[in-house]
Formats: sequence, structure tokens, C-alpha cells
Amino acid sequence: KNIVILISGRGSNMEAIVRALEAGRWPARVAAVISNKADAKGLAFARAHGIPTAVVPSKEFATRDAFDAALRQAVDGYAPDLVVLAGFMRILTAPFVEHYAGRMLNIHPSLLPLFPGLATHRQALAAGVSEHGATVHFVTAELDHGPAVLQARIPVLPGDTEDSLAQRLLEHEHIIYPQAVRLFVEDRLRIEGGAVRILETA
Ligand code: GRF
Repeated sequence: KNIVILISGRGSNMEAIVRALEAGRWPARVAAVISNKADAKGLAFARAHGIPTAVVPSKEFATRDAFDAALRQAVDGYAPDLVVLAGFMRILTAPFVEHYAGRMLNIHPSLLPLFPGLATHRQALAAGVSEHGATVHFVTAELDHGPAVLQARIPVLPGDTEDSLAQRLLEHEHIIYPQAVRLFVEDRLRIEGGAVRILETA
């Protein structure tokens, strides 16, 4: 299966997925890494690993529709079976999301449905929750609301800051995102009644 990964910056989740694919024997390859920013750090890692890269510079498009049309053309050029959003910091239009319905995943650094949107670690601290986490989910038109595939949970410790939470959580993101991608490429995910069912292996 062809995977296209979209990034905007550091790309550490993309890196975790690429390394997992390199180490395992999954029926998949990363066909391309595409960024909406030319200076995204993760592009260098992708290139160093022989993965084609492309930039669709969001700041050069006057409208969201125009950007999404260009992005879709770039993504579809790699015939993706799966599109993976990995720190891709753009809200996508409904037509774009519809086009990849059932084949686009995102990771969000909260235990959805808690804390959609930005600054999730700050939101979690402000709410005083004892547990925080990350969610891999299918992307639907409503931001950070699609069916959840996997979640990772961490305790909120005394003295935790936004940074300490983000850092501790990231290690778990790097575990669950490759796992979720693997489940998808092994065709073990079903969306039923708005929820994800994971099929056991034979
Ligand atoms: C991650 O925390 C992810 O959950 C959030 O943005 C961050 C991206 O980090 N959506 P990276 O670019 O994968 O290193």
C-alpha cells in the first residue's frame, strides 16, 4: 500500500512511522512526504531515507480552497491508499477530507473527545485532569472528531508543565501512530456506526 505523509514541521511522528516501516515487513511503503512549509525540518529526514518529498506552500495560496486543490493534486500524484497527517498544522476543507474519507489518519495530542484544537497540554493542565494522552483517529470534516483508532494514556504528574507533558506524550505518540498505520495497511480497521473496530489476526 502507498502511504503519503503530510507534515508541517519537525516530523518526529513521520520519522517514527518511516523507521517502523523500515524495520518491519508491512505491506506498505511511504510513497512521499509532503509539507506545506519549505523549511519543515522533517523533509531532510525523508530525503535522507530515499523518500520523495514535495512542498505545497500554503502561504502562497490566496484561499483555503485553492491550497487544498493543489495539495490534493500533489497527494493524488502518489496514488495513496492512506494519507497520514503527522503534525500537519492546517485545517483541511470538507471536500478535501471527503475525498480521503476512510483513508486519512491524524494524531491529536489529547484523549479525544477531550481538548480538540490547539494547546492541548495547556488545556489538560487547566482542566486539572489526572490523565492525559494522544489519539490516532480517522479524519472527518469536524476538526479532531473522527473515529478513534488507538489512544495512549499517561498520568499527569505533580509539577508537570506543558513542555514536560508534551515531551512525555510524544514518546507514546511514536508508538501508537506506527501501530495504527500498521493496522490500516494490514486491512484490520473497520469503521462501523462511527466507531472503529479492530479485526484480530487470523
Ligand atoms: C505532535 O504532538 C502531534 O500530536 C501534534 O503535533 C505534534 C507534531 O510533532 N499534532 P511532529 O511534527 O510529529 O514531531
